[in-house]
Amino acid sequence: MVLAIGHRLAIKLLQIAPLPAPPDDRRLATRVFGLNFLNPIGIAAGFDKHAEIPDALMRAGFGFVEVGTVTPLPQPGNPRPRLFRLDADQAVINRLGFNSEGADAVLRRLAARAQARVKAGGIVGINVGANKDATDRVADYVRLIEKFAPVASYVTVNISSPNTPGLRDMQQAGVLDDLLARVIDARERVTKDAGPTPVLLKIAPDLSLADLDDVVGIARARRVDGLIVGNTTVTRPVSLRDAQSSEAGGLSGRPLLPLADRMLAETYVRVEGVFPLVGAGGIHSGASALGKIRAGASLIQVYSGLVFRGLDLIGEIKRTIVAALERDGAQNFADYVGADAASATAEPWPDEFTRA
Ligand SMILES: Cc1cc2nc3c(=O)[nH]c(=O)nc-3n(C[C@H](O)[C@H](O)[C@H](O)COP(=O)(O)O)c2cc1C
Repeated sequence: MVLAIGHRLAIKLLQIAPLPAPPDDRRLATRVFGLNFLNPIGIAAGFDKHAEIPDALMRAGFGFVEVGTVTPLPQPGNPRPRLFRLDADQAVINRLGFNSEGADAVLRRLAARAQARVKAGGIVGINVGANKDATDRVADYVRLIEKFAPVASYVTVNISSPNTPGLRDMQQAGVLDDLLARVIDARERVTKDAGPTPVLLKIAPDLSLADLDDVVGIARARRVDGLIVGNTTVTRPVSLRDAQSSEAGGLSGRPLLPLADRMLAETYVRVEGVFPLVGAGGIHSGASALGKIRAGASLIQVYSGLVFRGLDLIGEIKRTIVAALERDGAQNFADYVGADAASATAEPWPDEFTRA
């Protein structure tokens, strides 16, 4: 159990005693936004916020690691308590508020790693966010792209954390268009020779479908390399039972799955294959991981599921996908991507979510 023992301790243990995972089945390998993944299972942003253990996580069996969120300047985040385990619901509520050691500290770690040529051995993306007190948030993202595009496998622009007041408003059309224009421009400037580092946008599962139309339209027009769908939700499903479920913050884990899958499918049908999607939210089993792929994810990410299931979850997901491939006589899991998206969007909206 990775996180049952506490997050700091889990990080320490992974640093000193990584258990290497067995090699992956070749049918799990995939090429997405120009990068070669040994398997499609990533660890979502927020676990290794300061890029302390990306290689230990890769050895544990992940196909990619997303470090961050990192902000330009160090900042402490919100006062404690700010992290709540909802055991009765297999869910987590967090209002960490981008506690970050800041870009320079994280850049030093990633640059050392890149120099040691470890970079070739694993896909490590970085998730970036604006400082809480930034006067020009778009400028924060531009600075972060300039710093990290040369050393990271990809960069995720995170405008969907619910714990930095006003951040999610950057998903509105006018702001988003300006942000993406400047971010993509910065990326072109700093990675001209090496080939462009993919830039992804991470969105909230709480967008209205009208807002999602806008976001997808702008992402397509500005040629982002992919979308991550998505972050934690500020809604609270009526099914929650845990006494801590009314804490403020973003909800993740098993109860998020129906909303996250629906938003992923809605995004998939709007994107029309122009760029790939990363699916996150509520994966707690092999079946839910395969469901996420069928809803439209070319890659998937987990976080809260690890809190309750530990690293065994990664092996279970791989076994479930390989068993499905055997059963269907299929050559690669990518055959399943989006297979259920169209039918999912025709279902009634998952009614246990009160839409924000
Ligand atoms: C404790 C915690 C911290 C998180 N921190 C971040 C973060 O810094 N940046 C980010 O983009 N997402 C963050 N997330 C969201 C996750 O990356 C993920 O999108 C979300 O939890 C849904 O996946 P899950 O249900 O598998 O946890 C955090 C989630 C948790 C539980």
